[in-house]
Amino acid sequence: MKALEAEFVKGFVRMCSDGWEQGWHERNGGNLSYRIKEEEIQSIKKDLKFDAPWQEIGTSVPQLAKEFFLVTGSGKFMRNVPLDPEANICIVELDDKGEKFRIVWGLVNGGRPTSELPTHLMNHEVKKIASGGKHRVIYHAHCTNLIALTFVLPLKDEVFTRELWESATECPVVFPAGVGVVEWMVPGGKDIAVATSRLMKKYDVAVWAHHGLFCSGEDFDITFGLMHTVEKAAEILVKVLSIRPDKLQTIEPEGFRQLARDFKVTLPEEFLYNK
Ligand code: 13P
Ligand code: ZN
Repeated sequence: MKALEAEFVKGFVRMCSDGWEQGWHERNGGNLSYRIKEEEIQSIKKDLKFDAPWQEIGTSVPQLAKEFFLVTGSGKFMRNVPLDPEANICIVELDDKGEKFRIVWGLVNGGRPTSELPTHLMNHEVKKIASGGKHRVIYHAHCTNLIALTFVLPLKDEVFTRELWESATECPVVFPAGVGVVEWMVPGGKDIAVATSRLMKKYDVAVWAHHGLFCSGEDFDITFGLMHTVEKAAEILVKVLSIRPDKLQTIEPEGFRQLARDFKVTLPEEFLYNK
């Protein structure tokens, strides 16, 4: 089968287009990666070419050695992915140490995978282990409201988690582990990848201050839905804070404990502090 006919490629392309429609991907902002299943890569093997040079990832992900990933290209616009997938996304294979990659499909007009490849791969490695192999999607978006909050809320996991949870009742059910926050750092390298993947051991969501958000999930729907839920909660909070600086009423810690019991989720007490 041709890669473009494969369901996982179609799902990936649709997610890029959905993110663009949300307004999260100005210019080349944001990137997406998918850890391809063995049977999926076998189904398109005839469409792959194994003659491109190996290149350094810039970090080491030994637990992902020899795996294949579908990723957006660096400098490519999400808006253009559905119009010409082969020119804007690519499949990379990792070497047997998890230190190098080579392009085996896509980016037909040249280019390289996203500059955030180190963060994507280090997140994949952490989430593969933590989820017993279930997580396959890492998504980075420049969500407007969430970014706005990083200028006015303290950059602490417990503050972002609690404020987002309070903003919409579904939030603690959708991301019960909470969200982690990375203070402002230069993007595109190993340092921010290490800081982000450390948080991803605990959370499925990592905020990059004054930049955007990383989400991890099992499939495209779950991961897109997670990004959407976090950004919707951020939008509500931005609106609340724009009306007045304090809330007249909100969901209280005891309410979260009741929610946890009824929806059978574990909400860590560290986020249910008295204000
Ligand atoms: P890329 O175009 O290299 O994917 O970079 C976009 C981005 O959002 C960097 O954080
Ligand atoms: Zn970015």
